[in-house]
Parts: sequence; structure tokens; C-alpha cells
Amino acid sequence: MLEIEKSLAGAGISIKDTKLNSSIKIGKALMLGLLYLGFGISCSKTSISRNPYISNVRFDYQVNLNLPQYDDLRFVGGSAYVYQAGLKGILIFNLNGRNFLAWEATCPNHIPRECSRLEINGVLAECSCEGYQYSLANGQLLNPDNDGNNPYPMINYRVEVFDSFLYLSN
Ligand code: FES
Repeated sequence: MLEIEKSLAGAGISIKDTKLNSSIKIGKALMLGLLYLGFGISCSKTSISRNPYISNVRFDYQVNLNLPQYDDLRFVGGSAYVYQAGLKGILIFNLNGRNFLAWEATCPNHIPRECSRLEINGVLAECSCEGYQYSLANGQLLNPDNDGNNPYPMINYRVEVFDSFLYLSN
């Protein structure tokens, strides 16, 4: 051991240095391991929460808030239906006067079918198939089945606000 220490000292390396290096290497390996683990967990979360019923649709749509059909959207808690975009249309909700939310109008807990277009009822979106109700303020299902088989919230779309225009996209 003494011989090794001497030869390392001759090369300008102390035992202290090599221990420090080993600690750094172990630290790096641990950090990489944690990052990998975190990445793995986040990936698996994404795949679990992916809605299996609703396909992804691409669109860009502009809403002019000055048009009379969007009168309700000018007030906090107000909402409106846009039929021209999304899968079965889009439900828009005025959250606080400055921020708006856009939701896919297809009930997110079944494959789209005739009865699965959500209808606005106050601050709720309701499906006539099995009577599911969703909050327009956060998209959550408010009356899930007891077996927990239908947990999906409404599909959310992007909304950007410029003056009296809303730009909806996905
Ligand atoms: S399709 Fe809406 S509750 Fe089944």
C-alpha cells in the first residue's frame, strides 16, 4: 500500500485525490441513475394518461368575440360552442375574463358515437349517453363510475387571446 502511495505521490496524485475522484464518479452515476428513473416514470405516466378513445386532430380556428353567437363568452363563467373545429366541436369557457379554456366536445370516456357530443349546462359539460358531467373550469369528470373505469378528463386545446379574438389550435 505504501509503495502504491509513493508511486502515486511521484506522479503528483494523492490518495485523497483518488478518493475524491471516486466519490465524484459515484455521485455522477447516482445522478444519472435518478435522471433515468425519473425519465422512465414520466414516460410511463404519459402513456397511462393517454386517452385511448379520442384521436388527435389538428386544427387552427379563430373566434371573433364581437360576433353575437359568442356573447356569453364576454363574461366570467360564460361559455360557447364552436362547431367548426375539433372532433365534435369545441366548448370554450371564460375562466376569469382574461383566460379562456377550450375543450373537445366529444365525451372523453367513450369512442365517439351519436350521443356522445357534450352539451353545455351552466359551468358543466354533459353527455347524454350515460349522463357524465365534466367541469368546464378544469375538465374533470364529476360523477365517475364506482368501478373507476372511466377516469378521463375532457381533452384540452390551446387558446391564445389577442384583443377580441381567440385563436384555438391543436
Ligand atoms: S359517451 Fe359520454 S357518457 Fe358514454
